[in-house]
Order: sequence, then C-alpha cells, then structure tokens
Amino acid sequence: MRLRKIKHAKNQLAEHPSIVIIDPKTHQGTWQALFEKAQPLHLEVGCGKGKFIMEMADVYQDKNFLALERYDSVLIRVLEKWLKCPKKNVRMIYGNAMDLAMMFGLGEIQTIYLNFSDPWPKRRQEKRRLTHPDYIFKYRRILAPNGKLILKTDNDRFFTYSMMQINNDDHFRIDRMSLDLKETSWFNVSTEFEDRFQAQGQPIYYLEATLTEGEPHETTLS
Ligand SMILES: C[S@@+](CC[C@H](N)C(=O)[O-])C[C@H]1O[C@@H](n2cnc3c(N)ncnc32)[C@H](O)[C@@H]1O
Repeated sequence: MRLRKIKHAKNQLAEHPSIVIIDPKTHQGTWQALFEKAQPLHLEVGCGKGKFIMEMADVYQDKNFLALERYDSVLIRVLEKWLKCPKKNVRMIYGNAMDLAMMFGLGEIQTIYLNFSDPWPKRRQEKRRLTHPDYIFKYRRILAPNGKLILKTDNDRFFTYSMMQINNDDHFRIDRMSLDLKETSWFNVSTEFEDRFQAQGQPIYYLEATLTEGEPHETTLS
C-alpha cells in the first residue's frame, strides 16, 4: 500500500487515549477493561483503514474488536471512521504485530483476522510474513483454546505459504478453505483491499483454522 504520510497523525491518535491505545504492552491481560462489556475479543492484525472491523462490530455486537495497525497515518483513518460513528465494541491499537506476545496475555484473544497481509514475496523477506512460524507461535500464545485464525488474501503464493505453515503446526486444525470466496455461501464482510481485488475480478483465497492444542491457558471468555 502506498502510504500518504499525515502530519501529526500520532498526536491526533494520542488525543483519544480511551479509544486508541498507543502503549499496548501496558494493557496486557486487561483489554476487556477498555470496553463497556466483557465479551470475546477479536483482533485484526494490519487493519488498514478499518472498513472490516467497523462493519464486523455492527454485525457482532456481542464481541469486542481490536484493530491493530503499525502506521499512524493509516490508523488515523480508522479513528476518523470511529469518530463519525462511535462504536462501543471497537478500540484501536497503534503498534506492530511483532510485539503481540507482549501486548496480550495467554489466551486473551478469541479470533485473529489476517486480511490481505503484505505478501513479502522475496525469500529474504520471509520472516516479515505474518504467517511465518514465528508469528504463528505468537498467535498460539494469545489465542484462547478453540480460538480461530482467519485469513483472506488475493495472493496465491502467500496463501499457499500460509496454508503450509498453519498445516505444519500441530496446534492448529484447518477447518475450511476456499480458492474463490465468492463461490461459497459463507457469510463475509469485505475489507477495503478485498473490494479492490474483487472489482478487478480476482479470486479471494480464504482459510479458517482452530487452535486445538494451545499453550497452558487461564480461563477466558469463549
Ligand atoms: C495490504 S494492507 C490490508 C489492509 C486491510 N486489512 C484490508 O484488507 O483492507 C496491510 C496492512 O497491514 C499493516 N501491517 C503490515 N504489517 C504489520 C505489522 N507487523 N503490524 C501491524 N500492522 C501491519 C500495513 O501497514 C497495512 O495497513
């Protein structure tokens, strides 16, 4: 994604400390306290401008949603959407997925969404892919037992790579998969990138996995 730098974006985010968290590590294990009601926590890693999370929050009012984004100039777009239409079950995190294991307690998250993650196609970039085994390990720690990892992408090579990494991890079971999401009857909320690729007639690849055997967890909402 070409990034248009917005001046003072971080300062603007910091003006809404109850909505946008800029020091996520200090909330480890206590994310529910940011919401009106304690409900299963769903996290989008790399939320972009936030269309998906804002629409999901309307559909699933019995869940709490966290939108994680590493660029302040992008996250500000989510905040703008939120300020236009406040949602008590959505909060934003300004941070990097690399730090997930320090942001969340064991089993704190019910569902993780990876929507149109950067594919990092070059071999030397493999470690940056959000489905590299190092990331899968972090997801395993922060997901609740029977928690879900849900991935959508337009990139066939990234999809194949991700499917192999998830399949190779004994803690996850792949429940369903599609090589063309529009050919299924599955309920779907589209993302900004998805709309763009759909308009170009590109198939959307989809994968949903469950954490069957995680790290030792404390009791969490499920
Ligand atoms: C291709 S965009 C997709 C945005 C959105 N999910 C969608 O589908 O429309 C990927 C987003 O992930 C963010 N991102 C990439 N790596 C990240 C990381 N390690 N931590 C947090 N955000 C990340 C990027 O800044 C970008 O906004």
